[in-house]
Amino acid sequence: MIRCGTTVFFFPIVEILSATSIALIAWYGGGEVLRSEVTFGVLVAFIQYINMLFRPIRELADKFNTLQMGMVSSERIFKLMDEGQKQDNRGKIVAQKIKGDIVFENVWFAYKENEWVLKNISFKIESGKMIALVGVTGSGKTTIISLLNRFYEIQKGRILIDGIDINDYELYSLRSQIAVVLQDVFLFLTLYTITLLYMIQV
Ligand SMILES: Nc1ncnc2c1ncn2[C@@H]1O[C@H](COP(=O)(O)OP(=O)(O)OP(=O)(O)O)[C@@H](O)[C@H]1O
Ligand SMILES: [Mg+2]
Repeated sequence: MIRCGTTVFFFPIVEILSATSIALIAWYGGGEVLRSEVTFGVLVAFIQYINMLFRPIRELADKFNTLQMGMVSSERIFKLMDEGQKQDNRGKIVAQKIKGDIVFENVWFAYKENEWVLKNISFKIESGKMIALVGVTGSGKTTIISLLNRFYEIQKGRILIDGIDINDYELYSLRSQIAVVLQDVFLFLTLYTITLLYMIQV
């Protein structure tokens, strides 16, 4: 709030000071020109000097704004980096090369207590099959993929990969075996293979 207030006031104050200085020079200098104390050229030169004086101050205010945006972004990044591990990692089985048989057994899941997103979901996907999950927006497609990676813990039921409960896998080895391509697609100005590799890592 304090930073925001500084920006909100800094810009107008610089503008007001600049305009007031020009007005004072025009008022005082105009009188001097009329009394033939200074030439008109000197008056114009002084107005130019005032502009030259305030230009760097305006630029400084602009840089200050950019700096603040950077500070807010870095605050968010550090907050995210400081987040602790949420899921327990008691699984012992290291997933080295999973085949990809996926089973959801009576899975119940809610992000918030009792607001069920998945209610008693059961299905089986055999390895090597290509499956499309289709449903209206908010029906839980992304949630299913997130659960497969153990980004959240299910409340009831079981999820099995290759016949083993995903909780029994060592968490990072499990995630290293699943590639997720998010809905937001980034295409870099480089080789398609590099873009694809980036997406697989995401
Ligand atoms: N992180 C979250 N916290 C709380 N509720 C969430 C969260 N993510 C999703 N939801 C809710 O869970 C429900 C399912 O969302 P989900 O993103 O899985 O749907 P989706 O089928 O992938 O939708 P879309 O087709 O829009 O991608 C929605 O009602 C959504 O509001
Ligand atoms: Mg989705």
